[in-house]
Amino acid sequence: MSPDSVQNEKLNSAPGAAEAKKGLFGREKNAEDSPETNPTYGKNLNFAAAEAYRLLRTNLMFSLPDEQRCRIIGITSSNAGEGKSTTALNLAYMLAEAGKTVILIESDMRLPTISKQLGLQPIPGLSNMLAGLSSGKDIIRKTSLEDNLLVIPSGDIPPNPSELLGSEQMKTALEVFSQTADFIILDLPPINEVSDALVVSRLVDGIVMIVRQNYSSRRALAEAMRQLNQANAKVLGFVMTAANTMNKWSGYKGSYKKYSKYGYRHGYGYGYRSKPAQSGEAQKTNPDGK
Ligand SMILES: Nc1ncnc2c1ncn2[C@@H]1O[C@H](COP(=O)(O)OP(=O)(O)OP(=O)(O)O)[C@@H](O)[C@H]1O
Ligand SMILES: [Mg+2]
Repeated sequence: MSPDSVQNEKLNSAPGAAEAKKGLFGREKNAEDSPETNPTYGKNLNFAAAEAYRLLRTNLMFSLPDEQRCRIIGITSSNAGEGKSTTALNLAYMLAEAGKTVILIESDMRLPTISKQLGLQPIPGLSNMLAGLSSGKDIIRKTSLEDNLLVIPSGDIPPNPSELLGSEQMKTALEVFSQTADFIILDLPPINEVSDALVVSRLVDGIVMIVRQNYSSRRALAEAMRQLNQANAKVLGFVMTAANTMNKWSGYKGSYKKYSKYGYRHGYGYGYRSKPAQSGEAQKTNPDGK
């Protein structure tokens, strides 16, 4: 079975998969979408979505204020399909837009999507370098999004992604890339499915948890948080995707999500109209279980 069909099968069988497949703004993905026209990232985002990612950028800059060195941020979630790769790509883009040099690493070696989305050559990539088969220089790709946004594709799918990601070579690679970047963003697999994100958590400055509304259960998020705590990971905050909230000031309903940080919630963000709650599926997603 090809990696693509494995990914499709996984996404199709996930709870809320039909909704997730619709993508941003509730529209079906169009075969004609290209890096120039795809509305889910970069310059093609709508105003509300772009503002939400800028706000995330600002909050992260406040969370990790040390301007003197590169900051390394891992993006993960409890389950598959919550919006990690989309958030990682847009966060990296927004940081680059603000003049930062950013390296976005496709660290989900099992289900890589970013290099494909950007039309970048997928091989050689991170796995090839960690296995000693390619040099750092060979695996860095420029993008058409911003000159200062560089992407490292995941490379060939290895039999042992978590071993590679937790290796000394990975630690050294991050140290080397840190010398030329202001931010390194890692798009990681989901915590409750594989151990990759946990092994990487000790190499990063902080983790951002993505939580898709009406999709993750409270129990799944609590379990992911338990594992992160056990690994002594620093969780910087939570991004809620695909949320449907009423803005109490403007009364505008639809394009806003909640971004909760350090255990409390802010009413800003973006998303598209979510389907009604599934019965039996926990709706509240804060890790305290409240
Ligand atoms: N903030 C958002 N609002 C609405 N839809 C979103 C949002 N972010 C991502 N999506 C959509 O959700 C789907 C899954 O997104 P994405 O591939 O980024 O998730 P993922 O967590 O990386 O998945 P996987 O676990 O398979 O790697 C895509 O169709 C994407 O367009
Ligand atoms: Mg992904």
